[in-house]
Amino acid sequence: MLPVQLIRKKRDGGELADSELRAFVAGVTDGSIPDYQVAAMLMAIYFNGMADGELASWADAMTRSGDVLDLSGIARPKIDKHSTGGVGDKISIPLAPAVAACGIAVPMVSGRGLGHTGGTLDKLESIPGFRVDLSTDRFIELVDKLGVCLIGQTDRVAPADKRLYALRDVTATVESLPLIASSIMSKKLAEGIDGLVLDCKVGRGAFMKTIERARELCGLMRTIARGAGKTMTCVLTDMNAPIGRTIGNALEIRESIEILRGGGPADTRELVYALGAEMLVLGGAAADADAGRAKIKAVLGDGSALEVFRKVVEAQGGNPAVCDSPATVLPRAATRDELTLPAGRIAAIDSEALGIAALIMGAGRRTKEDKIDPSAGLVVDAYLGEIVERGAAPQIWIHHSLPPGDGRLAEARAMIAAAFVIDQDLTAPPPSASRILEVIR
Ligand code: URA
Repeated sequence: MLPVQLIRKKRDGGELADSELRAFVAGVTDGSIPDYQVAAMLMAIYFNGMADGELASWADAMTRSGDVLDLSGIARPKIDKHSTGGVGDKISIPLAPAVAACGIAVPMVSGRGLGHTGGTLDKLESIPGFRVDLSTDRFIELVDKLGVCLIGQTDRVAPADKRLYALRDVTATVESLPLIASSIMSKKLAEGIDGLVLDCKVGRGAFMKTIERARELCGLMRTIARGAGKTMTCVLTDMNAPIGRTIGNALEIRESIEILRGGGPADTRELVYALGAEMLVLGGAAADADAGRAKIKAVLGDGSALEVFRKVVEAQGGNPAVCDSPATVLPRAATRDELTLPAGRIAAIDSEALGIAALIMGAGRRTKEDKIDPSAGLVVDAYLGEIVERGAAPQIWIHHSLPPGDGRLAEARAMIAAAFVIDQDLTAPPPSASRILEVIR
């Protein structure tokens, strides 16, 4: 069939056959289908969705549009985690070595930050010397030897997604759940994994604003995983406040090392335990989530996860002394300004605004070409539901290297202050202490 016939069939609510979807994705990949026809198909999918069979075929064709890693030479089960993106989300950095310390291989291909959410690669690169652009052979060698390696995507991973994503961005079709699910899964399945744990963020600072939409996305991603013969667990987690106390690359590495030393903020530890436990269950290293949680806790407490991380840093060219003395190894901002919140109860925190404030000071990028300042960011010692007393010490520290009087600092300060909703009613019940909303196994 011609592309126009496939578009018409989809537009009219028909179900495309496996061969038709594969032919269309092949045309997307080799460029033989022009932008206007790809865009029309995206809009037809946006309005009509995809049946389960269509989604599995479309995602599989996207996965196979480029290189699919062959990790069959690695004996351990290969399990990865993906997060839909949060503010202060440094979870992969302590999680991957902890899971590897429990006997599972974690081939982690991560992304860079864009907009208000940070990226694991940018965080790792704040460790002097750390390289994320290793060859595929070296990546496989390190996953085999150390149990974990963290790199960035090459242009050869799911090239169909690159073209589709760029077109979705300019045709108002990014929000389509089947398109989101197939975009994420095509890149993850190209890693050659056996199973995946998805951390699906829900709330103000997240891509998914409601739990209903998050559940729907998870259902579609599990359909794709099943079609590919992979196991998958989705953990829905609250993103109505930043994760941990830090936002910004080097600051988040410091906090990750606290976690790897058995400390760190309780919410961040909880996420590492919960996601790690599910990874161990998928990989057969724990009978259930409780047993998995106990194992993750143990390797964080006895230093074995930190030792895996030290080896990874060293093997990827970074300075392993960061594990012992992060404050001296990591870049430091020239200035640390303070901000004090007004007295009252913290009723809401706009994490997206905090992410953007950090970005404005240099911690993130507005466009892919922007350079980031690894030392810039925020330390936030203010929690949802907490009562701020009159005359309390500052709760927020702004790390930056902007020149005095730079307008960006004033802009960021105003955004940070406005991100906190302070209520004078001190009697409201405290919010749930747990970030884990739901686990879909
Ligand atoms: N992340 C992706 O990789 N793709 C999407 O469509 C959305 C988030």
